[in-house]
Amino acid sequence: MVRLFIKYHLCLWIVIVLFLVKELKGCLEKEKLALFDLKTFLTSNSEYEHLISAPLTSWDVNSEDDCCFWEGVKCNHTTGHVMDLLLEGVTSPRNISDVLLLNFSFFLPFNHLVHLDLSNNHFNGWVEIEGLCGMKNLQELDLSKNRMSGHFPHCLNNLTSLRVLDLSSNNFVGNIPSFITNLNSLEYLSLFDTNFDGLFSFSSLTNHSNLEVFLLSPKTNNLYVEIEESSSWHPTFNLKVLQLRNCFLNSRRNGTFPSFLLYQHELQLLDLSHNKLEGDFPSWILENNTKLETLYLMNNSFKGTLQLPTFKHGLLDLQISNNKIGGELQENIGEIFSNLFYVNLSKNSFEGNLPSSIGEMQKIRTLDLSNNNFSGEFNSHLNISNLTLLILLRLSHNSFHGHVVPILSHIPSLRWLYLNNNSFSGEIEDEVSNNSLYSLDISNNSLYSLDISNNMISGRFPRWIGSFTKLQTLSLSKNQLQGDIPNELCNLLSLYHLDLSENNLSGFLPSCFHNLTSMNFLYLQKNSLQGYIPHALSELTRLRSLDLRDNNFFGNIPQWINRLSGLRVLLLAGNKLTGPIPINVCKLKHVNIMDLSHNWINETIPSCFRKISFGMVVRKTTAIANNANQHVSNDSIQYYSSSTLSIFRYFEIWFYPGNTFHIYYNSSLSLNHPVVDSYMISYETVEVEFRTKSYYLSYKGNNLDLMSGLDLSSNNLSGSIPPEIGELRDIIALNLSHNRLSGTIPESFSKLINIESLDLCYNNLSGKIPQNLTDLYSLAIFNVSYNKLSGSIPTTMQFANFDENNYRGNSDLCGSLINISCNGTIISTPTPPYETSQNQTAVDMESFYWSFITTYVTVVIGLAVIIWVNSHWCRAWFHYVDLCIFYCFPRCLKKAFH
Ligand SMILES: *[C@@H]1O[C@H](CO)[C@@H](O)[C@H](O)[C@H]1NC(C)=O
Ligand SMILES: *[C@@H]1O[C@H](CO)[C@@H](O)[C@H](O)[C@H]1NC(C)=O
Ligand SMILES: *[C@@H]1O[C@H](CO)[C@@H](O)[C@H](O)[C@H]1NC(C)=O
Ligand SMILES: *[C@@H]1O[C@H](CO)[C@@H](O)[C@H](O)[C@H]1NC(C)=O
Ligand SMILES: *[C@@H]1O[C@H](CO)[C@@H](O)[C@H](O)[C@H]1NC(C)=O
Ligand SMILES: *[C@@H]1O[C@H](CO)[C@@H](O)[C@H](O)[C@H]1NC(C)=O
Ligand SMILES: *[C@@H]1O[C@H](CO)[C@@H](O)[C@H](O)[C@H]1NC(C)=O
Ligand SMILES: *[C@@H]1O[C@H](CO)[C@@H](O)[C@H](O)[C@H]1NC(C)=O
Ligand SMILES: *[C@@H]1O[C@H](CO)[C@@H](O)[C@H](O)[C@H]1NC(C)=O
Repeated sequence: MVRLFIKYHLCLWIVIVLFLVKELKGCLEKEKLALFDLKTFLTSNSEYEHLISAPLTSWDVNSEDDCCFWEGVKCNHTTGHVMDLLLEGVTSPRNISDVLLLNFSFFLPFNHLVHLDLSNNHFNGWVEIEGLCGMKNLQELDLSKNRMSGHFPHCLNNLTSLRVLDLSSNNFVGNIPSFITNLNSLEYLSLFDTNFDGLFSFSSLTNHSNLEVFLLSPKTNNLYVEIEESSSWHPTFNLKVLQLRNCFLNSRRNGTFPSFLLYQHELQLLDLSHNKLEGDFPSWILENNTKLETLYLMNNSFKGTLQLPTFKHGLLDLQISNNKIGGELQENIGEIFSNLFYVNLSKNSFEGNLPSSIGEMQKIRTLDLSNNNFSGEFNSHLNISNLTLLILLRLSHNSFHGHVVPILSHIPSLRWLYLNNNSFSGEIEDEVSNNSLYSLDISNNSLYSLDISNNMISGRFPRWIGSFTKLQTLSLSKNQLQGDIPNELCNLLSLYHLDLSENNLSGFLPSCFHNLTSMNFLYLQKNSLQGYIPHALSELTRLRSLDLRDNNFFGNIPQWINRLSGLRVLLLAGNKLTGPIPINVCKLKHVNIMDLSHNWINETIPSCFRKISFGMVVRKTTAIANNANQHVSNDSIQYYSSSTLSIFRYFEIWFYPGNTFHIYYNSSLSLNHPVVDSYMISYETVEVEFRTKSYYLSYKGNNLDLMSGLDLSSNNLSGSIPPEIGELRDIIALNLSHNRLSGTIPESFSKLINIESLDLCYNNLSGKIPQNLTDLYSLAIFNVSYNKLSGSIPTTMQFANFDENNYRGNSDLCGSLINISCNGTIISTPTPPYETSQNQTAVDMESFYWSFITTYVTVVIGLAVIIWVNSHWCRAWFHYVDLCIFYCFPRCLKKAFH
């Protein structure tokens, strides 16, 4: 019995082992060697070459291992042939400028490949592509996230088994390759984030009956996609995902909406944003496609109204900003779209009250209604306390009115709240202290950003602001707040950006301000603050912009000013500052714009001003950044991004619950999914005005760097102008007018080669106008009136454009322009009427104010924040966003999600 039992078992085991051996055939020696050659090729030019933890370290040709178990390798268990090669991110060039070419001949031994992933490897192109054409069994090919350019040979027609082709995020140029029209088995075709241009006829895909996903959005603006509009065109496919973004869709037909979509009813994601599509908003898309989750039609020219479907729709994400859609929102919008978590209706013409059903959108996380004509009270009939997931609410630039505190206190989940440019009113301080209804949830808030600027809020500065301890940006500018700035403000230790400008605030800045060491941007201008320039500011060593203009600050410019060594913008004009300009000001090397005008500053202009960059450093790094494309110097990174990046991270964590996103296509490769759209909020825009004469320029965002200027006008400065000022080669505007400067105009001014505006009027300057100033080709404004200059007026080059107003009040100047010949005689008839000197001054002051209109150079610092639509899909569409993020972000995301 026992023997029989053992025999039986032995037999069974032998059968099992034989079976297993047959099933688990190990890798073939030939392919193992080929894999090793491939490894050598991939790592030879890579910084991973000597790293112990590099991606391909498990590929060891000397080990006895079955190569089928090497990382990224899979074999067919029956034949032993390598079937999958998943080589994402295995190479990384040592220098960003290295050219890596993919040599497909290393793949020739693997002619049974089914899946090949070479994404994210920094390849610039390829050689021996015939090695690829031979892979007749290849079903999935991912070349995304390289830097590839080059033309596709015809032999790729041979890849007839291909189901998945991902060429996205590369530098391909020229027409969209024609071989794709032959690949009828394609189910997934991704061409987004490339440089393809020319004309593409979408109907060339007519016979791709299995096509489910098509993604196309060029990086440049040169691709024109036409969809055949012959009403008979019925494609054989039923798409789940269609992205045709930024490709002048149907521009030959005046942007008519693609009518084949009338017959698509499986759509889950439709993105036709950034085209110039015309006509009524295609509400029927929602009616026809019951499974639609994501609809992006922003930045087109749709008119009409938003008609809701007749049934409860599962839409998750609706972004239709920047069209001309109008009318009131339908009353039942909250019931029909009860699953929506992301809504962007901004920059349209919507009007009227908000339907109360919006209070029932319990899943909503982001609601952007900005830049419309909405009106009414936001919270009166809206039960906002049920919006427990809402993290971003943007009502800016509408006509909402009512009180703001209920919004603040009823939505504890809010992180970003923008109420600016509306008609909100009331005394916000009292609302909390006197009305217990509102005080409830304020202690439990998570707000990072609050912008209530440009409303009609009055009363004292709210002390409850101290409860918003996580605030990073706070703008209460352009309201009617009065009284002191309370100490409670100092609780906001994360404050990065504070704008209280254009209110009626008075008193001293609290000394506890020194705690706010995260501060980068501080705007207190146009209030009635008083005292010395507060010593507390000396601790804010990260400051990049400081604007204290038009207050009542007095005393000297403090010696400690040099501690603010990161300052780019220093604006102290319009106060009562006295004494000399301290030498320490010259240690603010990075200052681009400095305005000390309209004070009582005296003594001489320090010659050390030449040490300040006034544009030099920044402009140079910008130039480097532009040349190197994605490569950014450390300097600009520091300047722009530290906070933007951290805001990003919050967005990822709070914005999207992990399970919201559906991967619409099942692939064995980890395909490069598009960011469906990244959406930019240019909140926190603060204007920095810089006074120059007769001149108006508007700068936005990074263009701040393009302005540089020094304004010392309307002070009591005396002595001569130091010739060293001529070394400020990058300065664009220089205003020394209305002082008591004497001596000559330095000849060195002829080296101010970028200067556009030079104002020296109302001083005691004497001597001649240096003839070399005619070298200043950019000079557009030149004023030396009311000095004691003599000699002849230059008339060549751009000096021919200046008129006599620029030279008035200098009795010894001569030249044809002012009709005084240089040997002393008056050339032509008009003699100036006799005026008393007092009279003359009056007239001239008037002419100063009226004939030279004082205008402003407006610099808008746009701290743009992108909101990522999908934290999972790590590729961005950057339009205005700073380069650092462009460069770092893929890495950050990769770290976070892999
Ligand atoms: C392995 O190869 C055999 C023979 O070519 C084929 O029939 C089988 O489908 C392959 N297996 C897989 C998992 O692809
Ligand atoms: C594959 O491409 C090559 C080169 O273009 C061509 O000669 C060959 O006929 C093609 N083979 C098939 C099966 O189409
Ligand atoms: C496009 O618009 C122009 C002017 O409105 C019109 O003349 C032309 O016929 C339109 N073309 C098409 C294809 O509709
Ligand atoms: C889609 O909507 C259009 C316009 O309402 C209609 O003509 C068409 O039949 C609909 N198609 C489907 C599949 O429902
Ligand atoms: C708010 O939410 C609660 C609980 O989910 C629900 O019972 C109530 O009906 C909701 N109120 C509104 C106005 O939607
Ligand atoms: C803030 O400043 C005050 C004194 O002005 C000090 O007592 C307090 O400890 C500081 N708080 C922090 C968190 O630094
Ligand atoms: C500058 O002003 C201060 C105070 O207003 C005064 O004490 C000082 O004498 C002035 N210096 C000159 C050189 O006028
Ligand atoms: C100005 O021109 C004169 C004569 O052309 C020359 O000698 C002088 O060096 C120039 N000055 C400057 C600062 O370029
Ligand atoms: C003024 O000087 C110019 C040459 O510099 C001469 O041609 C002209 O005759 C003089 N005019 C008078 C009135 O002396």
